[in-house]
Amino acid sequence: MKLSFSPKLSTFLKPSSVTNLHRSFCSSSISSPPPTSLKPQTPLFLKPPVHSAAFSDLQKWHDWAKSLASSVGSTFVDLDNGPDSTLLCREIKWLMEDAIEEESEGMENNQRSIRLRVALEELYMLWKQRVEERRPFQYVVGCEHWRELVLCVQEGVLIPRPETELIVDLVGDVVLGNEGLREGLWADLGTGSGAIAIGIGRILGTGGRVIATDLSPAAIEVAGFNVQRYGLQDVVELRQGSWLEPLKDMEGKLAGLVSNPPYIPSDDISGLQAEVGRHEPKVALDGGINGMDDLLHICKGAASMLKPGGFFAFETNGEKQCKHLVEYMENDAGGNFCNLKIVPDFAGIHRFVTGFHK
Ligand SMILES: C[S@@+](CC[C@H](N)C(=O)[O-])C[C@H]1O[C@@H](n2cnc3c(N)ncnc32)[C@H](O)[C@@H]1O
Repeated sequence: MKLSFSPKLSTFLKPSSVTNLHRSFCSSSISSPPPTSLKPQTPLFLKPPVHSAAFSDLQKWHDWAKSLASSVGSTFVDLDNGPDSTLLCREIKWLMEDAIEEESEGMENNQRSIRLRVALEELYMLWKQRVEERRPFQYVVGCEHWRELVLCVQEGVLIPRPETELIVDLVGDVVLGNEGLREGLWADLGTGSGAIAIGIGRILGTGGRVIATDLSPAAIEVAGFNVQRYGLQDVVELRQGSWLEPLKDMEGKLAGLVSNPPYIPSDDISGLQAEVGRHEPKVALDGGINGMDDLLHICKGAASMLKPGGFFAFETNGEKQCKHLVEYMENDAGGNFCNLKIVPDFAGIHRFVTGFHK
C-alpha cells in the first residue's frame, strides 16, 4: 500500500501534516447500507488504477471533502464518541493515498491527469457514506492495518481492533521454547477477518497449523481471501460452523485455543458508536444479557478440545468479565485448568484470560 503522496501532489493538495503511521480505529448508519456480500471485495489499494481525473477536479473533490469533514466539528464526539473533524480530515489523506496511483507525466498545469483506483464520482459517494452515513472508514477503503498486516474487511465482517493484537503476542510468548505448542494444532474460534489465525500462523513452526472457524459465511470468505493474500493456505484452514462444532475431529488434540468472541451485553448495543452499532455485524458484537454467553460456552468446551499442557487465551469486554471467567474456570470447570491469568491490554484494562489445560 502506498503510504505517501508524491511530493508534487501533496504540495498542491495540502494534506494534513499528520503522518499515516497508524490509522486509529474509529468505532460507528447507513440509510441504505452497501449489501453484505459473500464475495470478498478487492480493497481500494489493490484495485488497478484504471481511472483518471484532472488534477483540478481532484482538488475540487479534496476541498469539498474537507468542508464536509469540517462541518462535523465535534457533533459525533458529543453524540456517541464518534470521529471529530480532525480525524475525518486525516482519513481524507488516507483515502487519497489508497485511491491515487501516481501522477501521469507530461502535463504541467491543473489539467494534468491523475491516475485513480476508483472513479472520481465514486470518491464523492464514498466520502458521503463516511460522513453522512457514518460508514466505518475501514469499510470505505476495504482494509484495516493490524499488526504488520493489511487485512481486507467489508460489511458483514468485524474490523479487527488494536487490543486484539495482543493475543498473538501472548501466543508468541508461550510457543517460544515449547516445541509441542509451536509445532502443534491451534484453533481460532470466531475468526472474522482471519486476523488472529493469520497472526498465529505466521509465528508457528513448520509443523504448526491453525483451524479458524466462524458461523458467518461472509467472515469465512473474507478470512479465506486474507489467508491467501499472506500465502498461508497450507497453515490456516477455515471451517464454517458454530464454535466447537466444526472441530469435533479435534477433541483432545489442540495445542492451543484462542477466541475473541462477541462479548458486548445486549442492552449496550444500542448505545454503541454509530460506526459500530449501525454497520458492524451484530453476530460479532452481541454476547447476550451480560455479554458472557459465548465466552462461557467456549470455556465449557475448551477442556475437551485441548491436550494436556495446551494453552488458551480469550478476549473479554474487560474487568468484570475477566473475573467472572476465572471464577468459572476455577470453580465450575472441573479443575481442568491451571496457571490462570488475567492480562491487561495496552490501555491497562484487564482484557484477556489465559491459562493451560492440566
Ligand atoms: C468479536 S468478533 C471477532 C472477530 C476476529 N476474531 C477479530 O478478533 O477481529 C466475533 C466473531 O465471532 C463470530 N461468531 C459469532 N457467533 C458465532 C458462533 N456461534 N460460532 C462461531 N463464530 C461465531 C462472528 O461472526 C465474529 O466473526
